[in-house]
Amino acid sequence: MQDFSGKVAFVTGAASGIGLALTKALKAQGCHVMMADIDGDNLIKASNDLPNDGGRISTAVCDVRSLEAVQAAAEKTVAEFGKVHLVFNNAGVALAGNPGEIEARDWQWIVDINLMGVVYGVETFVPLMREHGEGGYVFNTASMAGHVTMAGMAPYHATKFAVVGYSEALKQELAPENIGVSVLCPTWVKTNIHNTGEERPSAVDGGVAAGGQLYEMVKGLVENGMSPDNLAELCLKSIQANRMYVFTDPETRIAIDMRRDAIQADYKACLEDLGIEI
Ligand SMILES: NC(=O)c1ccc[n+]([C@@H]2O[C@H](COP(=O)([O-])OP(=O)(O)OC[C@H]3O[C@@H](n4cnc5c(N)ncnc54)[C@H](O)[C@@H]3O)[C@@H](O)[C@H]2O)c1
Repeated sequence: MQDFSGKVAFVTGAASGIGLALTKALKAQGCHVMMADIDGDNLIKASNDLPNDGGRISTAVCDVRSLEAVQAAAEKTVAEFGKVHLVFNNAGVALAGNPGEIEARDWQWIVDINLMGVVYGVETFVPLMREHGEGGYVFNTASMAGHVTMAGMAPYHATKFAVVGYSEALKQELAPENIGVSVLCPTWVKTNIHNTGEERPSAVDGGVAAGGQLYEMVKGLVENGMSPDNLAELCLKSIQANRMYVFTDPETRIAIDMRRDAIQADYKACLEDLGIEI
């Protein structure tokens, strides 16, 4: 997809951070945007603060954990804008903790938002793109945490690795239908992501607050992260280039090579154990 003008986009997590920056960048290029977010107050505030020029904006309060809620938001989008060309499955949360420390309901919460929220967006919007036949784009937000890991962040990594794999398969499946797919894999971006763990079910019920060294480290890295507006510009260029992956950070590039080397080393050792020559 080359031209965003006159197209219609659905963006989740649009009240803050990367989703809001994507909305701004799309609107500036003449794209009409349905901003969807679970946080109705922030959604209204964010949409009211947008400049008047460019594409039109509407809002839908929508919890991406619910397929019915995503479908209702899609119906609203079609009713207001006629059709949908791009879906940005971007809403996401973070959760840290070691084995034995994370409650099952908190695990379920992050899987429901970070993975199933993306799946519901795809299942809801791809049929609508097929229907109008004008081509479309699925843009899923994963993370660099979908390629390499650090201790203490397993739930986040598990969901983000899943979104990377899901998006890779989707790209192959949807290419014949003129529907492009990219997966966003940024490192640190200056948003509110470090605070989202406070919305996990056990914290809402008055559980132990997120804290400790890992939280402080992530908070510092996010606060010094790249500008969401610069990232949004890169995202739109990556759609125009139909890139599979969208990366941002020179520092963590080497970590992907280290993971690949570790995989190759074990692969080779296993084949040697099996007596298979390579
Ligand atoms: N900020 C970073 O450093 C970074 C790096 C890599 C990936 N990401 C990913 O970027 C995406 C956007 O996060 P962000 O950094 O802009 O954080 P953010 O907290 O600023 O924005 C996330 C938005 O998602 C919304 N949201 C949360 N749960 C929701 C739900 N159930 N349904 C609908 N909306 C919901 C929040 O209300 C919020 O407006 C996430 O998927 C995150 O994992 C962020």
